[in-house]
Amino acid sequence: MDVIRSIADIRTRVSGWRATGELVSLVPTMGALHDGHISLVRLAAERTERTVVSIFVNPTQFAPHEDFTTYPRDEARDLAMLEAAGVDAVFAPNVGEMYGETHRTVVEVQGLGKILEGAFRPDFFAGVATVCAKLLIQVGPDVAVFGDKDYQQLCVIRAMARDLNLPVEILGGETIRESDGLAMSSRNSYLTNAERTLAPKLHDEIVGVARRVASGGAIEEACADASQELDQAGFSSIDYIAVSDAETLESPAAGRPMRVLAAAWLGKTRLIDNVAV
Ligand code: PAF
Repeated sequence: MDVIRSIADIRTRVSGWRATGELVSLVPTMGALHDGHISLVRLAAERTERTVVSIFVNPTQFAPHEDFTTYPRDEARDLAMLEAAGVDAVFAPNVGEMYGETHRTVVEVQGLGKILEGAFRPDFFAGVATVCAKLLIQVGPDVAVFGDKDYQQLCVIRAMARDLNLPVEILGGETIRESDGLAMSSRNSYLTNAERTLAPKLHDEIVGVARRVASGGAIEEACADASQELDQAGFSSIDYIAVSDAETLESPAAGRPMRVLAAAWLGKTRLIDNVAV
C-alpha cells in the first residue's frame, strides 16, 4: 500500500491504473478509523479494482470553538488498518498541500447545507463540500463512498457532485453500530464511561420515532416525546430530532421516503444519528 502525500503523485498513480482500464474508488476520511470506515472500504473494493482512502483532518469544516486541534489522530494505526483491509493507496496530504497559501474558493450547497446540522454548524457543509470537491478533482475516482451515518453530509455531497457535473458515482454505506446500537464514530472516544452507557439511547429514541411515524403517528408529537426522553435520561441538550424527506431533507411529503435525523449533546460530546422510517 502506497502512502501518497502530494496531489501530483496521487494523480499519476490513479491515471496509471485508469490507463490500464482499472476502475478506482475513493473513501474520504479524517482518520481515527473504526469498523465503520473499514465497511466503506469493503463496499468500495466490491465496486472497483483499486481503492484509495484519503486521510485529511479538514480545518475548514471546524468552527473556531470546535475540536480541530484535539480531533483524534493516529496515522500509524490508521495505515495498519487500511493495509490489512487491502487498500491500494492512502492519500494523506498536509494542510499546505491541500489549501496552499492563497486558497479563497468555497463550494456551498445552498439550502440543503443550511438546515438541520447546518443551522447549528453554519460553515460546516461549506467546508465539507469544498474539501470533497477538491479531493474528487485531485484523485479523480470513478466511485466515492461516504457513510450513511453522516446522512446530511451524504445528501450535500451528492448534490454538489451533481451540480458540478463531477464524473463520479457517490455511494452511501450503511451505518455500523456497536452491539448496543450506538453508531460508530471517531468522536465516541470523547465519551466518559457514564456517557458511553447513556449514548445508545439516542438510537433507541430515533428508532421509536421512526416506528411511530411509520404506523401513522403524528411527527411533531413523536419528536417532542423522544426529545423529552433524552432530556430526562441526562442528555445535556438536544439540538434537533426531525423527520425529513429522505432526499431533499425538507419537510416530509405524503408518499415519499422519510428519514429521522437527530443531534444531541452528552456532556462535551455531540452525537448525531439517523434512521430510515
Ligand atoms: O465524514 C468525514 O470524515 C469528513 O466530513 C469528510 C467527508 C472526510 C470530509 O472532510
